[in-house]
Amino acid sequence: MTIKYFKNLKLGIKLNLILILIFLLTILSSGLILSDILDTKARDEVQDKALLAMATMDSVRSYTSSRIKPHLVERLATEPEFLPETVPAYSAREVFEGLRKNTDYQDFFYKEATLNPTNLRDQADDFESKLVERFRNDQELNEISGYRNVDSENIYYVARPMAIKKASCLQCHSTPEKAPPSLINTYGSENGFGWKLNEIVASQMISVPATKVFAIANKLKWSIMGTISLFFLAAIAFINLFLFLAIVRPIQKMSKLATKVSTGELETEFHHEDNDEVGSLAKGLERMRVSLQMAMQMIDEDQDFAS
Ligand code: HEC
Repeated sequence: MTIKYFKNLKLGIKLNLILILIFLLTILSSGLILSDILDTKARDEVQDKALLAMATMDSVRSYTSSRIKPHLVERLATEPEFLPETVPAYSAREVFEGLRKNTDYQDFFYKEATLNPTNLRDQADDFESKLVERFRNDQELNEISGYRNVDSENIYYVARPMAIKKASCLQCHSTPEKAPPSLINTYGSENGFGWKLNEIVASQMISVPATKVFAIANKLKWSIMGTISLFFLAAIAFINLFLFLAIVRPIQKMSKLATKVSTGELETEFHHEDNDEVGSLAKGLERMRVSLQMAMQMIDEDQDFAS
């Protein structure tokens, strides 16, 4: 049924239907492939940023404990106020807060989200508490990452468990009695105690904004698809022009001439400039016209002779 319908269509329409079908298939498949590539690229980019930031913070942490703390540790016992510069958690967070002053990084975030923190700005929210719980329930799990929506911004986060691996940590995190007086002075004796050896107390979190990266990938996708479409439309227009000039118009002309010849106007000549298939059709028709003309002349002469 459809094939019969298709057969009855004009050449130009047939060709355009095929071209449009090819166009749609190409645009659809290239759109899907492009989406996939650009999406993976955007994800990789966001992930790279997060992992770089995480590695940098780890390095700040170890610098603090190996290079800063030894210089200040004695003063912890004598100073009235605690020197937070000796604590890796503090230096990492402060360095990151410094980075966030740069407008390019203001939506990045670093936190050692803790269920029972010494400094309350490290208090884990609901989402982070659940991550800590997951790490506690599965000791094999050493990283959770994913996307989440915060204030309509798409955020990529990487979370890693933080465990108490050294007994020395418990000096400040087990009971207020064991902690230096300066710590109690500064932070009070309510929070950040009761931690146990090997217990996972926190989740180290890096958050990287992803909305912009995905928006750029999306824009790139549409502009590439737009360019492909423009090329395709231009190609379709050129093919149509060619079809009209090289095939449709000459054939229409010849079919008009053939009608004339068939109604007795035998002098109209078939002629086509180009030496292509249409040209050989014109030559064939011209030979047929000449033969017809000669045949008619012979008939006429026969009749003259008979009369
Ligand atoms: C000399 C005392 C002291 C020692 C020893 C110590 N901490 Fe802390 N820790 C602190 C203080 C004070 C803070 C809060 C710093 C701030 O203001 O951000 C803190 C913060 C933290 C935090 C961030 C969450 C929070 O409580 O605010 C983590 C995680 C942490 N410490 C883990 C450890 C680990 C692991 C060790 C052992 C390697 C350790 N601490 C040893 C004093 C100490």
